[in-house]
Amino acid sequence: MDKINPNFQKLAPSYLFSEIAHRMGAYQEANPTAKLIKMGIGDVTRPLPSACIRAMHEAVDELASIESMKGYGPEAGYLFLRQAISDADYKARGVDIAPSEIFVSDGAKSDTANFSDLFGSGIKLGITNPVYPVYVDANAMGGHAGDPDGRGNWSGITYLPTNASNGFVPELLKAHLDVIYLCFPNNPTGTTLKKAQLKEWVDYALREKALIFFDAAYERFITENDVPHSIYEIEGAKECAIEFRSFSKTAGFTGVRCGYTVVPHDVKSNGVELNALWSRRQTTKFNGASYISQKGAAAIYTPEGHEEAMALIKYYLENARTIREAMTRAGYECFGGVNAPYVWIKTPADFPKSWDFFQYLMEEKNVISTPGVGFGSEGEGYIRLSAFNTHELTSEAMNRILR
Ligand code: MLT
Repeated sequence: MDKINPNFQKLAPSYLFSEIAHRMGAYQEANPTAKLIKMGIGDVTRPLPSACIRAMHEAVDELASIESMKGYGPEAGYLFLRQAISDADYKARGVDIAPSEIFVSDGAKSDTANFSDLFGSGIKLGITNPVYPVYVDANAMGGHAGDPDGRGNWSGITYLPTNASNGFVPELLKAHLDVIYLCFPNNPTGTTLKKAQLKEWVDYALREKALIFFDAAYERFITENDVPHSIYEIEGAKECAIEFRSFSKTAGFTGVRCGYTVVPHDVKSNGVELNALWSRRQTTKFNGASYISQKGAAAIYTPEGHEEAMALIKYYLENARTIREAMTRAGYECFGGVNAPYVWIKTPADFPKSWDFFQYLMEEKNVISTPGVGFGSEGEGYIRLSAFNTHELTSEAMNRILR
């Protein structure tokens, strides 16, 4: 008898960003005077919008008095936040999503991972490659991914390559899939799908009675027209798609923790509403995001909060432009960074392996990147640079790399 879940033993020993943190820590310890510039994990560096900070202070004060203190909140989130999301993120874009279809959480990472709790055995998964590693690792933990092949792929996953040769657009399959994970604007490549391209996948899902898990964590970074902010802008998506959103990159909430997932009532599997199942899962295993985080998140929807959050996005996008332009000038092939805070960069010919280039950048330039292969086999030969640093350090990193 297995005392522990044997699927955990199939996983790589550490999660991608833990491995990077480990290598970075070891290097820093051996080289205490090195001034590392972190452009690896997409973690924010700017202070949060003052409207959010004020709202969180007020929330703390409310907890201090007998009249306004709060205990457990509603597991799916306070109505003040779900209503604000419904109005500003959906109704304002012509999409009808009711508060009862919105589940507030501690972020998109946990929701994209936890949703696989709902999967039955033998599910056919389609996952883009490269991809945010959480989708694959979480499915591997749940026994839905089969076995690793030693080259970064899993036997139970159908990979949908999104690379330079297909313009980073996953091609439709003839084969049947039950669940397809899509993340756009994309992490890690920073690329997007146009409405017509996303519509093809929605049509596929409707035809195949499949589900699309749409990770829209980077939606606020969209600058171009015709790039959908929500999958529900596509007709029919309310019958086949779950959408994940996050306040982490939108308003600097990586440490505060708050996000949400939309599960429309019309999304069903074998006649069962996923909304009811997700509610059952969440009410059992999750007690809701803190009142303080939710008050902070609701402030993003005030005029002042919105303006401040958009200023943060603009700041980070300016860094993305700095990276893209500097690296392109130096002859690197670059993608993304226009509608996303990530720039996806082909490694130079003398460093065909992502980890080797990562190591070179760390040791010779003191710049931390993320090796593309950490996001899947199609990421080999690429690195990702994150735009979440300061203007000064981003420019300094470019100077160091190009020197
Ligand atoms: C990333 O760098 O890919 C993200 O910050 C990871 C995350 O959001 O969990």
